[in-house]
Amino acid sequence: LWTPGNIIEDHIETIRAQVGDDEVLLGLSGGVDSSVVAALLHRAIGDQLTCVFVDNGLLRHHEGDQVMATFGEHMGVRVIRVDAEDRFLKALKGVDDPEKKRKIIGNMFIEVFDEEAGRLTNANWLAQGTIYPDVIESAGSKTGKAHLIKSHHNVGGLPDKMKLKLVEPLRDLFKDEVRKLGTELGLPFDMVYRHPFPGPGLGVRILGEVKKEYADTLRLADHIFIDELRKHDLYDKVSQAFAVFLPVRSVGVTGDGRRYDYVVALRAVETIDFMTARWAHLPYEFLDHVSRRIINEIPRISRVTYDISGKPPATIEWE
Ligand code: XMP
Repeated sequence: LWTPGNIIEDHIETIRAQVGDDEVLLGLSGGVDSSVVAALLHRAIGDQLTCVFVDNGLLRHHEGDQVMATFGEHMGVRVIRVDAEDRFLKALKGVDDPEKKRKIIGNMFIEVFDEEAGRLTNANWLAQGTIYPDVIESAGSKTGKAHLIKSHHNVGGLPDKMKLKLVEPLRDLFKDEVRKLGTELGLPFDMVYRHPFPGPGLGVRILGEVKKEYADTLRLADHIFIDELRKHDLYDKVSQAFAVFLPVRSVGVTGDGRRYDYVVALRAVETIDFMTARWAHLPYEFLDHVSRRIINEIPRISRVTYDISGKPPATIEWE
């Protein structure tokens, strides 16, 4: 019988049998899959689990603090937070090609994670949040950005180099099953049902070269958009929503004169499989409200646009 409770008990037994008294390392991203693995492993093996959370400076508003609060403080999971913002931004300096940015962010993630792992000499298992669709995807010869990121975030790469054995407890589960498991394990609803967030994070939502100033501005705009979607009960009605930073300046007027500032695009889509998507027909009043807040509250933004492109031909992300 498939109930989340049964599945958890089964998995706990399997994990214990698999790793015994060994130590296990997990890269925690704050996404649904790695979060559920963390909660499950914590339940199964407690302190034998160490999570490494890499803050690459390309996360959403307060995301790092939230991950630490949920896992570290509330659940008592051992989480090491690595503040690597400077390293990521330095590596990205002067780079504007999207695929190059993805590679740099992915490689830097491995480098930083590897260093931390090196300190935890006892770990001989690496846990990963690989789910069934990831297994299928990386089995094919699919190229492109989704494959690229999976190749460093979920499947392959790391273990060979580090000689760690893999433990992938979600390997036979679909996303909705993973979510049910997460709920049963006591993870907060907002974490279990959050929109997907790409591995390269804001790195691919800042068009062209990534700069700290841009990331800080984008974080604020994105936060306003998401916050208002939640307040208006619209967050769960769209599949993914976010803001994109356009490093072009446009003229605006405020009470005391002329502004010449950046542009933010808002993107919200409805989709089942993320292979095709329709732009979400959010109410005009809602968009008006969000636009006003962003322009009034964020110093360097003078214009907000709403993306009305479907996929295909546009992709969901702008890069
Ligand atoms: P696109 O832009 O290809 O996005 O229509 C489809 C879904 O994939 C996510 N996405 C990524 N996820 N690394 C990831 O982990 C990436 O490099 C990446 N690029 C796109 C995107 O957020 C959407 O959910």
